[in-house]
Amino acid sequence: MLRWKELYEECLNCHKCSLGEKRTNMVFGDGNSKADIIFIGEAPGADEDRTGIPFVGRAGQLLTKYLQDINLYRNKDYYICNICKCRPEKNRTPYEDEAKACIQYLRNQVALVKPKIIVCLGATAMRYILGSDWRITRDRGKWVEKKGFYMTATFHPSAILRDPSKNEPFLEDLKAINEKYKEISK
Ligand code: URA
Repeated sequence: MLRWKELYEECLNCHKCSLGEKRTNMVFGDGNSKADIIFIGEAPGADEDRTGIPFVGRAGQLLTKYLQDINLYRNKDYYICNICKCRPEKNRTPYEDEAKACIQYLRNQVALVKPKIIVCLGATAMRYILGSDWRITRDRGKWVEKKGFYMTATFHPSAILRDPSKNEPFLEDLKAINEKYKEISK
C-alpha cells in the first residue's frame, strides 16, 4: 500500500489506460482525508478536468449544497473522489478496463482515509463497489456492512439535474447518510 504522496504521484504519472493521454488534470480527490464518510462518483467531467478538483461542476455544486444544508462540509465531514481519475471524452461512462485499471488506486485511497461510511454516487460507482447485481433505482438507500464499512448507494447528482422526480429520494438518502454518520460518531 502506498502512502498519500506516493499514491498521488503514481496517479499523476499514470498511463495505465488511454484516458491518461487525454487528460488536462488528473482528479485525485478532495475534502478531509481523515473523514468518516467517503463519496465516490464516476469520473471527472469538463470542469473537474480543467481544475483538477472533483465535483465542482453543476452536479457537484448541487451535491455540495445539499450536503451543506444538512451540515455536512467537504473540508470537515467527508472526502470525495471517483472511480476514474481522468476524464472520459464527452463524459461517456468509463469502459470496464479503464475502471478496473483505476480502482486499485481508489482502494489504496480508501485504505488511507479509513472511512466508516462509503457512499456510491450513481450506477457506475455502485457497480464497481457494491457489485453488478445492484440496480440504482431499486437498491438506492439500502445499506450493507462489508469489510468493516457501512456502504450505500444513491443517485448521481447529475441524474437529479436531468430528472427532478429523483430529487426527493436523493434528499432522503442524504438524510439517512447523515443519520448513520451521527450514529457512528456517538
Ligand atoms: N461526475 C462525477 O462522477 N465526478 C465528478 O467529479 C464530476 C462529475
